[in-house]
Amino acid sequence: MKKLISVLLSVVMVAALITGCGAGGSASGAKKVGVSMPTKDLQRWNQDGANMEKELKAAGYEVDLQFAANDVQQQLSQVENMISNGCSVLVIAAIEGSSLGEALDMAKKANIPVIAYDRLIMDSDAVSYYATFDNYKVGTVQGTYVKDTLDLDNAEGPFNIEFTAGDPGDNNAGFFFNGAYDVLKPYVESGKLNVVSGQKTFDEVATPSWATETAQSRAENILSSFYADGTNVDVWLCSNDSTALGVENALAANYNGSYPIITGQDCDIENTKNMIAGKQSMSVFKDTRTLASQVVKMVGQIIKGETVDVNDTSTYNNNVKVVPSFLCEPVFADANNYKQILIDSGYYTEDQLK
Ligand code: BGC
Repeated sequence: MKKLISVLLSVVMVAALITGCGAGGSASGAKKVGVSMPTKDLQRWNQDGANMEKELKAAGYEVDLQFAANDVQQQLSQVENMISNGCSVLVIAAIEGSSLGEALDMAKKANIPVIAYDRLIMDSDAVSYYATFDNYKVGTVQGTYVKDTLDLDNAEGPFNIEFTAGDPGDNNAGFFFNGAYDVLKPYVESGKLNVVSGQKTFDEVATPSWATETAQSRAENILSSFYADGTNVDVWLCSNDSTALGVENALAANYNGSYPIITGQDCDIENTKNMIAGKQSMSVFKDTRTLASQVVKMVGQIIKGETVDVNDTSTYNNNVKVVPSFLCEPVFADANNYKQILIDSGYYTEDQLK
């Protein structure tokens, strides 16, 4: 009898290893899912983490949710702990796309599938899937907003523009910038849009860590070097809300001209308040509930051994392989439609935006 039990146990263990869920069980029998978020500093990652945790629990999984204070080493050791603590699937929003190699090697050895959440994990063959919003489209939505608002095809111009992009360590940042720049490039080339600072390559306009303070000090330098003589800046194309906030702070303290069109992304509360107050023109809305639901669905499909939903198998090459991806659709919010998009949908209450 004892022998039979031990044979059965070995069979179960081998089967578990083969399905890749070997380390995954918990005392309650529920599979555990590790969710690694980059930081608590930005509103969006708190929402992403909370949504993921809520939905995964509702689907019957245990959750190990960790935030890494934008510290690469911290994220690395948190992910390693998730692996040794028996997570069946890992969902990771990387601080820096290329710095998770060691942890991913461990995950691969333990047969643990990895979903890159929002940001692609680079230089590793251990990434199973990628779920995000269509990052290039986020940029084209911003660029198109500027083009339409200024009526660039008909207006005489020229208009003055500056660019502020995201973190060079985040694979998304280039997609956002290129999406926007590709829409505006013809007008920059024809001279209808004039980049007064001359800074228009991604490297020149990037903001390490997406930090508000860094975006603010760069904007202050640009304003004092190129606009102190009363020159107007008509557009400040910002890739997201944390950088837009920096530019808005810089304008408030260092600029007296007519207020520019400012773009953003995430519809953070502070920025949405600024939209309502006329200090930011738009923000691309990426409903974190949509992304979380999609990822929870993918986790379930992986665990059950079903086909995983993807809708893009060509765009996201992480330098080792093209990672099968699910891209959600972004939309834009501004002072005219924010009530419908952000309040009627239950994303915010009116009170949160006061
Ligand atoms: C996300 C943006 C976010 C930025 C800064 C990007 O990877 O896609 O939504 O604003 O990181 O956290």
